[in-house]
Amino acid sequence: MKTWPYPRIVAHRGGGKIAPENTLDAIDTGARLGLKMIEFDAKLSADDVVFLLHDDLVDRTSDGRGPAKAMRYDEIEKLDAGTWFDPRFKGARMPTLVQVAERCFSHGLAANIEIKPCEGRDVETGVLVAREAARLWADAGPAPLLSSFSYAALEAAAQTAPDLPRGMLYEVIPSDWRAQTAALSCVSLHADHTTLSEDLVREIKDSGLRILAYTVNDPARARELAQWGVDAICTDRIDVIGAGFLD
Ligand code: G3P
Ligand code: MG
Repeated sequence: MKTWPYPRIVAHRGGGKIAPENTLDAIDTGARLGLKMIEFDAKLSADDVVFLLHDDLVDRTSDGRGPAKAMRYDEIEKLDAGTWFDPRFKGARMPTLVQVAERCFSHGLAANIEIKPCEGRDVETGVLVAREAARLWADAGPAPLLSSFSYAALEAAAQTAPDLPRGMLYEVIPSDWRAQTAALSCVSLHADHTTLSEDLVREIKDSGLRILAYTVNDPARARELAQWGVDAICTDRIDVIGAGFLD
């Protein structure tokens, strides 16, 4: 079984549904609730700054409009990424990976960096996220866990920072999951929890991989997955499925 220094509960998009996703406020909120690990989505601005955003467009989670890949980071950082969620968070920004790493270190949080390329930028996003992550976490542990739905992005990350652990991320687990995860020397497979069964979990675990299941918001389902052998639960409901939930 692969080395796995990570806790059992992971806050989805920084702070789940408790704070605006992929912001420093989200990370602070999770830490305040006692979380020990966060997942977040990293991509590139037009001028190649690694920053946090889930969608291709900035529209849903900020007061801006348009595709992030066409905007420089000095334009992106001016956008309000908090008010859409709740006016209490007015002024929250889309942070850089540098800012997020600092916040992880100050709170003692482990990180799952999901490489989320804008359309057509898979390889360069994999390279730049991995390079930046390796530099930022060079003297810090545990190493950030890199994951992506994009095989090309994760392959580029593997070539750039081979020592950083990797997890292949799937909406639907393909029949060739063994070959894909072996080719990228993955430590883990990250799956939509609704696609997992007890038998499939056993098969994946028997292959030596760890499993992270997303996005699990029902406490009973979280317990069931853990009983099957799922190693980590990524959840929006950090208020209910908290750090010690599976202890
Ligand atoms: O990494 C797990 C999960 O975040 C994948 O889905 O769309 O929320 O990034 P999404
Ligand atoms: Mg994600």
